[in-house]
Amino acid sequence: MALMEFHVITLFPEMFESPFRVGMVGRAIEQGIIALKTHALRPYGLGAYKQVDDAPYGGGSGMVMRPEPLAAAIDAAMEAHPGLWRVLLTPQGELLDQPKVRELSERKPGLLLIAGRYEGVDERARAMVDQEISIGDYVLSGGEIAAMVIIEAVARLVPGVLGNPESLAEESFSAGMLEYPQYTRPEVFRGMKVPDILLSGDHQKIRAWREAEARKRTAERRPDLLVRPKR
Ligand SMILES: C[S@@+](CC[C@H](N)C(=O)[O-])C[C@H]1O[C@@H](n2cnc3c(N)ncnc32)[C@H](O)[C@@H]1O
Repeated sequence: MALMEFHVITLFPEMFESPFRVGMVGRAIEQGIIALKTHALRPYGLGAYKQVDDAPYGGGSGMVMRPEPLAAAIDAAMEAHPGLWRVLLTPQGELLDQPKVRELSERKPGLLLIAGRYEGVDERARAMVDQEISIGDYVLSGGEIAAMVIIEAVARLVPGVLGNPESLAEESFSAGMLEYPQYTRPEVFRGMKVPDILLSGDHQKIRAWREAEARKRTAERRPDLLVRPKR
């Protein structure tokens, strides 16, 4: 059985095909470490045209997703896969960050991600979810790419997905800071040289340099991270 399941309710299941065939997540799915299943919303639509949206009460532009097809899709997914943590993707949700990604990675057996479209979902659909999440202060046309962001970020924390799990401990946001600068070959590129200390072989000094660089970089680029309470 997979260590973590990702389920997505979407009008466009085909969007999930190619992104998760490649890379570490693709490999983890192939190996059965994680599972990804899309649940098409359209079959739960109403009437002969399988309608999932309608005009907003009170007027205004665009269409709103009706609650009944969403409820039916959520109920069916929960019945087939009990215990999933239901997450609605919305720009009005809690802002996603690494601590939140970590919390989501602990929601076993996994996540049911609900992707909106049009002008979003009928307000009453919010009663059917456990959490609402936004991936940033901007508006996308649909929740699919937001769901993919969550899957990609959470999957890397599932044991066995990353080739080198130690890299998790050092990367940006894991210790509340950005990561230190990284270098590989060549030693000199267009006149820019790799810092001598990284070639010194002195691991203690390298660790101290990296810590100092991480702090400096964070102070320059994201000073807010340094004053944020640790979660
Ligand atoms: C055009 S948006 C709807 C925006 C909505 N009218 C509002 O102003 O809050 C359509 C769908 O895209 C998804 N979406 C858009 N921006 C998002 C974001 N920043 N984070 C997560 N999901 C987002 C949601 O699923 C949403 O239902």
